[in-house]
Amino acid sequence: MDKIKVGFLGFGNVGTGAYKILQETGNEISHREGFEIEVKKILVRDTNKKRDVQADESLFTDNIQDIINDPEISIVAEFMGGIDPAKQYILSALENKKTVVTANKELMARHWPELEKAAQNNGAGLYYEASVAGGIPVIKVMSESLQANKVYEVMGIINGTTNYILTKMSEEGRDFHDVLAEAQRLGYAEPDPTADIEGFDAMYKLSILSSIAFHAKVPIDNIYREGITKITAEDIAYGKELGYAIRLLAIAKKNGTDIQARVHPTFIPVSHPLAAVRESYNAVFIKGDAVGNLMLYGRGAGDLPTGSAIVSDIITACHQENNHRYTTFYNENKASWQVRFEDDWETEFFIRLTVKDKPGVLAKIAGILGKHEVSIASVIQKDHNKDVVPLIFVSHHAKEQSIKKALDDIGKDEDVLQIENVIRVER
Ligand SMILES: NC(=O)c1ccc[n+]([C@@H]2O[C@H](COP(=O)([O-])OP(=O)(O)OC[C@H]3O[C@@H](n4cnc5c(N)ncnc54)[C@H](OP(=O)(O)O)[C@@H]3O)[C@@H](O)[C@H]2O)c1
Repeated sequence: MDKIKVGFLGFGNVGTGAYKILQETGNEISHREGFEIEVKKILVRDTNKKRDVQADESLFTDNIQDIINDPEISIVAEFMGGIDPAKQYILSALENKKTVVTANKELMARHWPELEKAAQNNGAGLYYEASVAGGIPVIKVMSESLQANKVYEVMGIINGTTNYILTKMSEEGRDFHDVLAEAQRLGYAEPDPTADIEGFDAMYKLSILSSIAFHAKVPIDNIYREGITKITAEDIAYGKELGYAIRLLAIAKKNGTDIQARVHPTFIPVSHPLAAVRESYNAVFIKGDAVGNLMLYGRGAGDLPTGSAIVSDIITACHQENNHRYTTFYNENKASWQVRFEDDWETEFFIRLTVKDKPGVLAKIAGILGKHEVSIASVIQKDHNKDVVPLIFVSHHAKEQSIKKALDDIGKDEDVLQIENVIRVER
């Protein structure tokens, strides 16, 4: 039986997950697939570190050359993270005609064209299922099972940390900072949570996912990004009254040659399938012209779920051998001339204000919205028996720029004390 030798770059969460799977299921995989997968070397920073997952001492190295220059290693699996030196190591592996499997979404989103060119020039493969939504096989589904479709919309919960935080805030009425601190204590959020809570992680994944979905490059510079740090318990409570759940959504839509791509906190009706996705779970909702609506749901992170995607890519790579698939579009770091990126998209908006409690304020603000062609779908006005009251509007479909202009005027009104928040609504 053929033995495929693999070099691991990293042995943290993802690396140990993939290793455990190969230890526990390796024999079955060999029996099914007709080849054996052997981890020959593992690159780490510290070869003396005590590790929870046991692997033979002789496998560990801190010298990348032990992997890059080993002619027996045909596949390099990268899960060390970051750009440098991961990028250089991957390029060296590809130049040595080794196929690369990676979980590194930031590297893929920023340097995909360069990596793919190196792969193509050397007849090597580049596989990245684990880089988007962990254990959910969305890249494979999109590129191998939905080819019959024109996919025109992808809407996903693709960051588990923010979904955990928003679920806790929604279900327990708690404040953002309180839940973030708890998530950090439990290991659901990083000590530096910026990449997750500011939407960078979801933006990297959306760039990869929507490019595959639309067969057109969606560079990160063309993705609007807004995190969840401004969402308050009050926003969520008023949203609930209106029948909405809040999620950090990664949204990409294609209409002819127009594409819009955005990551931001979003209200969705509680009846929407994505509203049922709680805690650190992920889901991707896809709309295709032939298949209709489709949703994939599962674990977006974690050692075994992400390891599942890594091992699956290793197996796929073994089967492809010298016939690897590459992207179907012109893969550059800039948008192709064939598409136009929209930034004035239309959606519904939730607007929460604090205003002086006096007659006529509601009508005045409705007038300002109307002047900017924003019509109102619903209003919540609470009587707080104080001098100031909250006032909440939900608009019908309106243009992003119209809302911005209307809010500029509303902010200048003497009876408006504060524009508390503006949250987009999707259906
Ligand atoms: N965690 C998840 O659930 C998940 C899910 C999807 C994708 N990803 C992506 O997968 C990648 C890895 O994530 P992770 O959570 O597994 O990270 P991690 O637990 O921090 O592990 C990183 C591993 O890489 C090694 N490493 C880091 N820098 C190195 C260097 N310069 N030279 C040699 N070895 C180096 C570390 O060595 P030491 O052990 O010696 O420190 C460690 O074994 C990231 O790109 C992440 O975005 C993670």
